[in-house]
Amino acid sequence: MGKKAYPLMGGLLILCILYALVTHTSPAVSTGGAGEAPYVAQSSEPEPSSASLDEDWRLILVNKTHTMPEGYTVHTAKVGSCLVDRRIAGDLNNMIAAAANEGVTLRIGSAYRSVEYQQDVFNRNVEQLKKQGYSEERARELTSESIADPGTSEHSLGLAVDFARGDSTDFVESYEGTEQFAWLSAHAAEYGFICRYPKDKAEITGYTYEPWHYRYVGAKHARAISAKGLCLEEYLKAV
Ligand code: DAL
Ligand code: ZN
Repeated sequence: MGKKAYPLMGGLLILCILYALVTHTSPAVSTGGAGEAPYVAQSSEPEPSSASLDEDWRLILVNKTHTMPEGYTVHTAKVGSCLVDRRIAGDLNNMIAAAANEGVTLRIGSAYRSVEYQQDVFNRNVEQLKKQGYSEERARELTSESIADPGTSEHSLGLAVDFARGDSTDFVESYEGTEQFAWLSAHAAEYGFICRYPKDKAEITGYTYEPWHYRYVGAKHARAISAKGLCLEEYLKAV
């Protein structure tokens, strides 16, 4: 090969390298980062991993002054004999299994309630109180202290679970004295649940103490809420 051929080959080599650099692009890698569209639940979709879910649904506030978001739909899954938002079924099942492993039986007495069913629950309580001699007005007032008006119950979000004593469907303050309550107080936050209406927060939550009513907010928030001794309303103001 003559000496003149070397610069020509060198030039060709440089051109090849430049071509390779320009035409080569990395394969698309999804990092699940901030650019991703938020998750919207659809019944035909497979359950996504929790890491890819938008966090906001866990913190939806529904109370006496915040009604259910308009058109809110819940895709349910069965846990025990009740329905819940299917996105919390895994954590709820895991919590029930962990308690069972330690000899504690958590029994769900009530969970998802449609707005219509919440109306039934409310009306039945009013009727019961009227039978006990209360006026319609007083019966409604008393009922409102522990049962939400239809459209203002987080049971209708599918994110609330009432634990019952034994076979009873009465939810009473004495649940506080049960081994179930002791277990939940120690471990519920690990599975994303908080006692939603604590004893000393009725002024803020609008409801008297309900040691049986647990709300799913996800483990990260539940741990912070429990550690700081806050109710959900206080926590949402602080974050
Ligand atoms: N017991 C709670 C407040 C409800 O009815 O949603
Ligand atoms: Zn409840």
